[in-house]
Amino acid sequence: MFDEVSPRYDLLNDVLSAGNSRLWRIATTRAIAPRKGMRVLDIAAGTGTSSAAIAAHGAHVIAADFSEGMLAEGRKRNADNDLIEFVFADATKLPFDDDSFDAATISYGLRNVSDPKQAIAEMVRVVKPGGRIVIAEFSRPSSDAVNWAYTKYNRHVLPRVAALINRDAAEAYKYLNESIEAWPTQEELAKWLREAGLERVAYRNLSLGIVALHRGFVPSAPVTTSTAARKKPAAPKKEPKSAPTPKATPATKKPPTAKKPATKTSTPASKGTDK
Ligand SMILES: C[S@@+](CC[C@H](N)C(=O)[O-])C[C@H]1O[C@@H](n2cnc3c(N)ncnc32)[C@H](O)[C@@H]1O
Repeated sequence: MFDEVSPRYDLLNDVLSAGNSRLWRIATTRAIAPRKGMRVLDIAAGTGTSSAAIAAHGAHVIAADFSEGMLAEGRKRNADNDLIEFVFADATKLPFDDDSFDAATISYGLRNVSDPKQAIAEMVRVVKPGGRIVIAEFSRPSSDAVNWAYTKYNRHVLPRVAALINRDAAEAYKYLNESIEAWPTQEELAKWLREAGLERVAYRNLSLGIVALHRGFVPSAPVTTSTAARKKPAAPKKEPKSAPTPKATPATKKPPTAKKPATKTSTPASKGTDK
């Protein structure tokens, strides 16, 4: 399905989101807090629009996707960008080593993955202790009136407008609507992240909750246990129900005796960047 829409994928996004998709990308990139020297995994990267925004801050980005059509379009568009590397990869079975990235992110992709919890587990596996995971995904508008109007737009307007731009896209955007309606709420997704063992899980709504931006940090490993032990889900911690402007606590504040020292990248990257 994504192979078919790949050439006009970004144009469709701009039109159908009335330009909001660009603002959502800016917010997502801020939450990732990329900087020079960081190695960031962008899963379900599609044509690499999200990857390019991250690479613009100097980070090296592995843009992973399992649609050859999207990857081909992404390689073409980003041919002159040495910081982006396109890799064929299934989000549920990543071909990367444990602890090999400073951060992992997925924009508008997790909802499409057949086993999203497994994809989250894979992100936790490949991100270094102290690194962050950022998820941008369509979500549930907080107001009933907005939710009603948004549902009508998705069901009736979106597939028709999409078909005007790309005949093949109508079916894809009908699917988009169905998958959005079936997707868990902000709170539910935050719960999945905590269950996967992430710490300091928080989210904020963008455009009244049409999109939600979730983030969490991979815990630092206990000094005496193996990497595998770190990956076991931690007991859920009590956290605020929502954090509209999540502020990360610097990793250095964590008890140094119980945890492996946080990686160098996590401290500066976490200072009030994902507001
Ligand atoms: C809506 S696009 C998002 C593209 C990009 N992240 C963006 O923000 O524009 C969703 C992408 O998820 C990819 N995808 C879906 N399931 C996947 C999986 N299991 N592994 C890797 N990519 C997947 C699709 O191929 C598609 O390119």
